[in-house]
Amino acid sequence: MMNIKKSTHSEWSSRLAFILAATGSAVGLGNIWKFPYITGENGGGAFVFVYLLCVLLIGIPIMIAEVMLGRRGHRNPIETMELLTEEAGADKNWHYLGWMGVIAGLLILSYYSVIAGWASAYVVKAFTGSFFDANAVAIKTVFDDFVASPVRLIFWHSIFMLATMMIVVRGVNNGLEKAVQYLMPSLFVLMFLLVAYAMKMDSYYQGLHFLLFPDFSKLTGSSILTAMGHAFFTLSLGMGAIMVYGSYLPKNISIAKTALLIAGADTLVALMAGIVIFPIVFSNNLHPDSGPGLIFQTLPIAFGSMTGGWLMGILFFVMLVIAALTSSISLIEPAVAWLVENRGFSRVKACVWSGSLTWLLGLGTVFSFNVWSNVKLFDRTIFQLLDYLTANLMLPIGGFCIAVFAGWIMKRQHSEQELNMATELDYIRWKVLISYVAPCAVFFVFLHVIGIF
Ligand code: PFF
Repeated sequence: MMNIKKSTHSEWSSRLAFILAATGSAVGLGNIWKFPYITGENGGGAFVFVYLLCVLLIGIPIMIAEVMLGRRGHRNPIETMELLTEEAGADKNWHYLGWMGVIAGLLILSYYSVIAGWASAYVVKAFTGSFFDANAVAIKTVFDDFVASPVRLIFWHSIFMLATMMIVVRGVNNGLEKAVQYLMPSLFVLMFLLVAYAMKMDSYYQGLHFLLFPDFSKLTGSSILTAMGHAFFTLSLGMGAIMVYGSYLPKNISIAKTALLIAGADTLVALMAGIVIFPIVFSNNLHPDSGPGLIFQTLPIAFGSMTGGWLMGILFFVMLVIAALTSSISLIEPAVAWLVENRGFSRVKACVWSGSLTWLLGLGTVFSFNVWSNVKLFDRTIFQLLDYLTANLMLPIGGFCIAVFAGWIMKRQHSEQELNMATELDYIRWKVLISYVAPCAVFFVFLHVIGIF
């Protein structure tokens, strides 16, 4: 056993608490907002196929590795990596992996909070009946007018950041656990209701065909990278969020089974979101490639026309905000845990510092949709650049390093002991995936994008 110096690190109260929190981190805007619009932009089924393949061959093994590293280190990602590097007798530079994760988390949160702000504003719009009997054009105008106003976006971004900070301040057991306990099950129920609604639409099969029928001629190098990046993003991998959650996991819990459950639930929610959204897109002659506004321009049409749509609309956007909150707390937690454990900050001070910095960064995304919409770097707005940098580059690179560390650097006896799998064969399967399949897949996708492979 590693010599763990005494720490004040908390623990989840049960396996269920961890599952709910990690599923809460995984299920968020990535599933309901991002997955449908990037699927729409990248041509549908073939993109979804690559994404599912990435979840299976890269995401799940890396999730197991990340939880394992977190639990073994039992600290924030930066110190965990320092400790485990020492234990493995490896190069000290590995701890930069923890650093990259903390930075990626804050960068993601900066735009995540702005989009979650949109969802919050839509709770009010649903409540005041803005969607009632409105057609696709009117709904689009509502959305366009809304994002054109920096003041309104800043207002909602601020509210969301404040809510995130208020939960994180309360710590693991009081804040994070309590928040997800009721929220995750309710989200599932609501998604099932929406799927039932979509199944009755005329364009249901057209939507399903778009989502699931792979037309590989539509795949490009960049869509493969987006699919892989999204597998990391949606499972919250490659930046220490799942590592920090793993660090609160008691020793007696099976990591592999838990990871499978989380990845399964996450994938299910994304597919359900696709099943709901594309039939609405096709039945209203909308375009699947409408970009980040897709769900805000489609779902309100359904809510405006269905019986009980008023209540469904309110509930849906409330759930979306909540799903975003259970993810945003995991985006900021690595930074907060590090400031508390390493820099001696109180939890309040750590939240205020990291939250304010993220809020400020978020203004870049706010302005990308209005006053700075023409400001482009590498042909991308600030929002697109942040999204590309984090989801398509930082998370896959972080995940690649985690795979290499868990597969090649960490001593076999340590990973075997920590994972404590049911059979030797299960362990070997994971070991092959983490040492060869996952890192090679990430590597080849990168080579493919720069045109070498
Ligand atoms: N998985 C979250 C989602 O799909 O919305 C986003 C996310 C959370 C990404 C935490 C990365 C992370 F570390």
